Amino acid sequence: MDSSITLRHSPPSDTGAGRPEREVVLKGPGIGAEVRGVDVARGLDDEAFEFVRNALHEYSVIVLRDQDLAPAEQTAFTKRLGEMRVSFYNRYGVPGHPELSVVSNIRKEDGEAIGIADAGMLWHTDASYLKTPDMYTVLYGLQIPQRDGQVLGDTVFTSAWRAYEALPEAMKKRIAGLRATHSFIHHLDKKKRAGNLKRAPLTEAQKAELPDVDHPIVRTHPVNGRPCLFVTEGHTSAVVGLPEDESDALLEALWTQLKNPAFHYRHSWRKGDLIVWDNCAVHHLAVFDYGDIPRRLHRAGILGPEPF
Ligand code: SIN
Repeated sequence: MDSSITLRHSPPSDTGAGRPEREVVLKGPGIGAEVRGVDVARGLDDEAFEFVRNALHEYSVIVLRDQDLAPAEQTAFTKRLGEMRVSFYNRYGVPGHPELSVVSNIRKEDGEAIGIADAGMLWHTDASYLKTPDMYTVLYGLQIPQRDGQVLGDTVFTSAWRAYEALPEAMKKRIAGLRATHSFIHHLDKKKRAGNLKRAPLTEAQKAELPDVDHPIVRTHPVNGRPCLFVTEGHTSAVVGLPEDESDALLEALWTQLKNPAFHYRHSWRKGDLIVWDNCAVHHLAVFDYGDIPRRLHRAGILGPEPF
């Protein structure tokens, strides 16, 4: 059953002769929408770009299908959303485009992966372990794995604002004003303990640039003002000021809330999909069900404000 809902059409006068009408088709529970009638490689005029940006802020994850993008075109589009972050994982940059990172399980002859091979294995939101996390992520699908005609390697998104909204009032009161620690080193340790670490170790210089940071457990969306849960299984190590057992129990309860499928949009990739998500409004998880079947995507991050 197709549960899509077409939400808005752009005025006919805005679409231009012979161009498909722009529309937004909601695919998930208030998050995850396809924005149709947009060809990123051709370039978007200001009105078209605003249409895309408004859909992003309203539906938190947007999907632009059937895009045919060179790295420079992905970069040009991404830059319109804000300042791009160059990842400290410089060894996984797209050649000639350090502002784009390769996410991939494909290995070179020497056995090293051409990209980050374990990205998204735990629920997270991009760069939460930095003082100023990424506001948006733009991910472009180049090679999408399939087995027996079934698409693999989905990305699942959960709505941080719907998950917050649905919390009991007593829990909202309990977490109001609390802060939690986010740590990249904790994240790597957690993956290592589970035997899932698939990337080159950090150098001491990289580690020194990644001190733990504290953020509010409920952050306010800087554009639409929605309160969003901001603790992740991947990177949040502790609630500031609570004894360890209380902190662990509280984090577990909030992660359980975020993992409720009622708040999820699960994206099944096609080659040429360009996805943009809002890291304040959603958290995400990559599904590792494809083993060695090649998967390759190019990722870009846009700097955000310090969470408040
Ligand atoms: C990520 O978590 O940034 C990557 C998501 C994916 O590969 O599906």
